[in-house]
Amino acid sequence: MAGAGAFGRNHLRVYRELEAAGLGVALVAAVEPDAARAADTAAKYGIPVFSTVDALLAADLKLNAATVAVPTVHHHAVAAALLDAGLDLLVEKPLAAKLSEADDLIERADKGKLIVQPGHLERFNPAVMAVEPQLRRPMFFESHRLSIFTPRALDVDVVLDLMIHDLDIVLTFAASPVREVRAVGLPILSPMVDIANVRVEFESGCVANFTASRVSTERVRKLRFFEPRQYVSIDYARQDLLVIGMDGSVPPEIAAAIAAGKVDAATLAKLAAAAGAAGGPGPGLSFKKPVVTPGEPLRLEIQSFVQAVRTRQEPRVTARQGRAALALALEIQASMAAHAERAGLKDFFKAG
Ligand SMILES: NC(=O)c1ccc[n+]([C@@H]2O[C@H](COP(=O)([O-])OP(=O)(O)OC[C@H]3O[C@@H](n4cnc5c(N)ncnc54)[C@H](O)[C@@H]3O)[C@@H](O)[C@H]2O)c1
Repeated sequence: MAGAGAFGRNHLRVYRELEAAGLGVALVAAVEPDAARAADTAAKYGIPVFSTVDALLAADLKLNAATVAVPTVHHHAVAAALLDAGLDLLVEKPLAAKLSEADDLIERADKGKLIVQPGHLERFNPAVMAVEPQLRRPMFFESHRLSIFTPRALDVDVVLDLMIHDLDIVLTFAASPVREVRAVGLPILSPMVDIANVRVEFESGCVANFTASRVSTERVRKLRFFEPRQYVSIDYARQDLLVIGMDGSVPPEIAAAIAAGKVDAATLAKLAAAAGAAGGPGPGLSFKKPVVTPGEPLRLEIQSFVQAVRTRQEPRVTARQGRAALALALEIQASMAAHAERAGLKDFFKAG
């Protein structure tokens, strides 16, 4: 375990829980340069805590795998050293800070036949896993991820800190190359972009709007999307899923548009909203709440990683998917920088 900070502590807890449950995992050691955190971790888990990766590797503990939960800007250095020592890795999101770093990690992993799973844990959110089998042809996404300001993860902007989760999910669901990105982002409380709004259009014609903020007064983590004859709403925090379907009594002009593949998302949104305002399904609409078995996404993510390590199968979230999410995040940063330039905001702006 590299990095026993705010989020690394959650990994430590889950590894220990899996160990205690007899699931074939042993938490052996950690790396943490901060002396107080290192002492706490050593005391709490009864494991050696090294101040550097080199010191860990010199101890020759016969490790198989590790989580990397150090600040994003250090992902590459730490992950590269662990890969070269032959360890499979769960690397917290984003996979790296730069594409060249992500490419280098992929190359090292391929060379050593090692697993690198980026920590896109929303893929293990039970609501997301429940919606995947129901996916048809998502054409319009609306994503909101708002959180209250905490002085953490300030080595990167809100796109690499928070929006990256939604970029990965939408890239997976849309399954089409990105055609165009338009973005605006502003620094509010930190020197980097704290709030961002992005419109992505895919080659398939699918469009996604993303809003992410780490300076909000409320917490929201929602994804809504529209596809022919279906509207889906996911609340990540509540692990809640709502599917509004359209049956045969859909008004003929809408049915014809759907049949022709010309789905007008605004029309579908209006229908769904009207049905919601009326307190239930309207004519031609049906509400479904598919069963979602609750679970801690991080625990499910780590269990999946352990399974990939054991079976040597490709992880559920691959390093190349982590690279794709990073590539889109960097394109968004470039679009935000161009917007800031056009708007005369360059002095306030420092890309992440
Ligand atoms: N999946 C999620 O939902 C989620 C949530 C929060 C953070 N994260 C990710 O986890 C990572 C860590 O974030 P955090 O909020 O825990 O940050 P943090 O600053 O609280 O913790 C990072 C820790 O890594 C240690 N560290 C720094 N350099 C190191 C090195 N070379 N080797 C070992 N340890 C080192 C620091 O001393 C610190 O204790 C980031 O990549 C972040 O994006 C993911």
